[in-house]
Order: sequence, then structure tokens, then C-alpha cells
Amino acid sequence: MSRVHLHDLDFELFIPEAEVNEAVTRVAAELSAKYAGKRPLFVGVLNGSFFFAAELLKRLTIECEITFVKVASYHGTSSTGKVTDLIGFNERIEGRDVVILEDIVDTGNTIVHILDLLRDRHPASISIATLLFKPDAYKQHVAIDHVAIRIPNDFVVGSGLDHNGLGRNLPGIYRIIPNGQ
Ligand code: IMP
Repeated sequence: MSRVHLHDLDFELFIPEAEVNEAVTRVAAELSAKYAGKRPLFVGVLNGSFFFAAELLKRLTIECEITFVKVASYHGTSSTGKVTDLIGFNERIEGRDVVILEDIVDTGNTIVHILDLLRDRHPASISIATLLFKPDAYKQHVAIDHVAIRIPNDFVVGSGLDHNGLGRNLPGIYRIIPNGQ
């Protein structure tokens, strides 16, 4: 499937599944080396990170735990920049090595907000791993430690990312086709 229609928008295949998997394998190797001998707690940001979390964790060669957290900052195809608190997150992370898993870092507002909220709980360390990163949209100064794939500032779906609920199940990454093309 090289073209899909979701709600009102058309998307074309941009990054095939095999390429996404290769990038995730590379990040898994980075994290396995970095946390060798430790037992990090991965915190997946819902909903979009479920795909990255599953693909990443099955490639790790270290002991680890995973939990998920929910926030909201996006409506339609542009970030509102407004994030809510961590919903339903009761995990004790004091003294733990925490790795936040994101599907995509766009403006960076969401990740920085989550970072602040998690730091208040005194973990031993926190790093960030994301499937996709839009460097041209990024407005924050926090380093994104582990990036699987850097993409241009286009709206994308697939591999966990959605357009108003649709497209998360698409293997690979699909890019929006501007109207009329
Ligand atoms: P940020 O706060 O602008 O970095 O946005 C982060 C959140 O916006 C992500 O976790 C996604 O849910 C959503 N998002 C950002 N860009 C895209 C995109 O291209 N497609 C789908 N969702 C996106």
C-alpha cells in the first residue's frame, strides 16, 4: 500500500517498514550498551509510543521494565502546545534510571513537560528516546538522546502515529500529500 486516505487527508508511503525496523534496532543497541548492568524503567508516552515501545523492547539485550503514561497535546495536524499532567502514573521512580519513549518529538513541548514532571520524582537519571524527530519544528533546548529517524516538518502517520485516531496500524511511515496533488 503506497497511498492511503484517512478521514479528509491523503498520505503516501515515506519510510518503509524495513527501514523503520533498522533504525529501531540501532537505537536498541545504543540503549543496551548504555544501560548494561542496570535495569532501566522505560516510560512509554501513550497513545503513539506503543508501537516503538514494543519493537524497541524486543530488541533490547538488557533487563528492563516498562510502564506507560498518558498526556494530551495534539489536535488535528498541528500541536496546541498545551499539555495536561501525567494521567494515571503512580510508578515510584525515585533512584531509577528512566528512559522516556516517544513516538515523535515535534515542537518538544510535550517531552519537556513530561521531563519536568518526572524530574520532580527524583529518578537517578532520565533520557529520552523517540522513533521520529522533527528538528525543524523543535523549539526546546533539551537534548533528545536517542533518535531513530529524523524527518522533515511534514505531518506523518503510521507505526503508532495517527491522524484523528486513524493510521496507527500502518506499517512504515506515511507522509501527508498536500491538497490537490
Ligand atoms: P510536541 O509537543 O509538539 O513535540 O508534539 C508531540 C506529540 O504530538 C506527539 O506525541 C504526537 O502525538 C503528536 N504529533 C506531532 N507530530 C505529529 C505528526 O506528524 N503526526 C502525528 N502526530 C504528531
